Amino acid sequence: MESGGPLATRHGLQLLLPLLLLLLLPSHEGRAVRHTLPRQVTQDWPALHLSNGPGQEPVTIMTFNLTKIIKTISSFEFRTWDPEGVIFYGDTNPEDDWFVLGLRDGRPEIQLHNHWAQLTVGAGPRLDNGRWYQMEVKIHVDSVMLGLDGEEVLHLRQVSGPLVNKPQPTMRIALGVLLFPASKLGCRIPCIFPSPYGLQLVPDLDGCLRRNDWLDQQAQTSASVPTSLRSCAVESQPGIFFPPGTGAEFSLQDIPRPHVEPWAFSLDLGLQLAAGSGHLLALGTPENPFWLSLHLRDQKVVLSSVSGPGLDLPLILGITLQLKLTVVVLNQGTKKEILALPPMDPDSLLNLWAQTQGRLFLGALPGEASSASFCLDGLWAQGQRLDMDRALSRSQDIWTHSCPQNPGNGTDTTR
Ligand SMILES: *[C@@H]1O[C@H](CO)[C@@H](O)[C@H](O)[C@H]1NC(C)=O
Ligand SMILES: *[C@@H]1O[C@H](CO)[C@@H](O)[C@H](O)[C@H]1NC(C)=O
Repeated sequence: MESGGPLATRHGLQLLLPLLLLLLLPSHEGRAVRHTLPRQVTQDWPALHLSNGPGQEPVTIMTFNLTKIIKTISSFEFRTWDPEGVIFYGDTNPEDDWFVLGLRDGRPEIQLHNHWAQLTVGAGPRLDNGRWYQMEVKIHVDSVMLGLDGEEVLHLRQVSGPLVNKPQPTMRIALGVLLFPASKLGCRIPCIFPSPYGLQLVPDLDGCLRRNDWLDQQAQTSASVPTSLRSCAVESQPGIFFPPGTGAEFSLQDIPRPHVEPWAFSLDLGLQLAAGSGHLLALGTPENPFWLSLHLRDQKVVLSSVSGPGLDLPLILGITLQLKLTVVVLNQGTKKEILALPPMDPDSLLNLWAQTQGRLFLGALPGEASSASFCLDGLWAQGQRLDMDRALSRSQDIWTHSCPQNPGNGTDTTR
């Protein structure tokens, strides 16, 4: 293991091959804010988590007999740190009579498609701040209204008709998911191409609902037993949480490429909680994931690569761990601990981006029996934040936009 001093003085001389560095930097700004947010106590109100993981069944689905509906208001309380996803979907027919309430860029959005109207409209403030909000959706004569904490934030007129005259007398409501492919959002009839205007949403929403009251109880004909994977009783904070044994894969095609001249690539991990042993991340291919890897062992973060012996750092939480691969070692006079692995061949790293099999693995590698669990307050590649909802694949149990506030609270993912 080498320290920062000698390397910095050799800067730019014989370092024609890239070095691999681990830098410890002060953490990103977001952290200070969290402590000023009100702490929510949810134990008295068992809440329902909206996420069932990608490609899964809805958390719950209800059906209503429209000929019996008198009350046309649905209300609930909602909490999330996730800026995008589906809160609920309703339809009488997935082809031409449906409604979606979701979030985009943290703000409520309604998409509606029926005989009277086809529209997408956003309204109200950002809600992705971990606070509980009371929301209400009301259908009245030809209008649909959205209420937030008792205030009407949206009133859409001439967008609805009498419920009793629908050709299909059954309305379905599904929580946290669409009942058709997400590519259909923003479509106009005939739907040949999805909208080019970015009206699609990634439906998965890492959020909680409580005090739900959907339409008219006496008109409800069925309701599936909620199947959400997570408890909402745990106090959460923004982040990404990997419970033990969970992992995700990004295609390198979907993350920024290394900079070529000068040669450089960086990954920043804001590590907030960590326990157990196992991989944090790896760069490689499914056949050979170990081109470069970072794992947790004995309260240490261990960096290894194909090019030679590894090195380790004591595990320090609450700081950003920056993995930087570069030819030039910069010493900017800030508090950094710089460790360097033996020189590596930049072409072999760039080559990973050239192949469709190139992957960034996070958490447990496929087939790895890992006991590591960890929370990141963020993950950046070349300074650009990566969104877990855009991963090529991931374990269903990963918390995509939140972390438990207490280390012990995250391991139990059952309800
Ligand atoms: C809906 O309710 C009406 C009136 O009670 C009843 O005649 C009809 O069979 C019900 N439809 C379904 C699908 O349950
Ligand atoms: C979360 O952890 C704290 C402290 O470790 C504990 O007091 C609390 O009961 C836990 N809550 C849940 C819901 O597990």
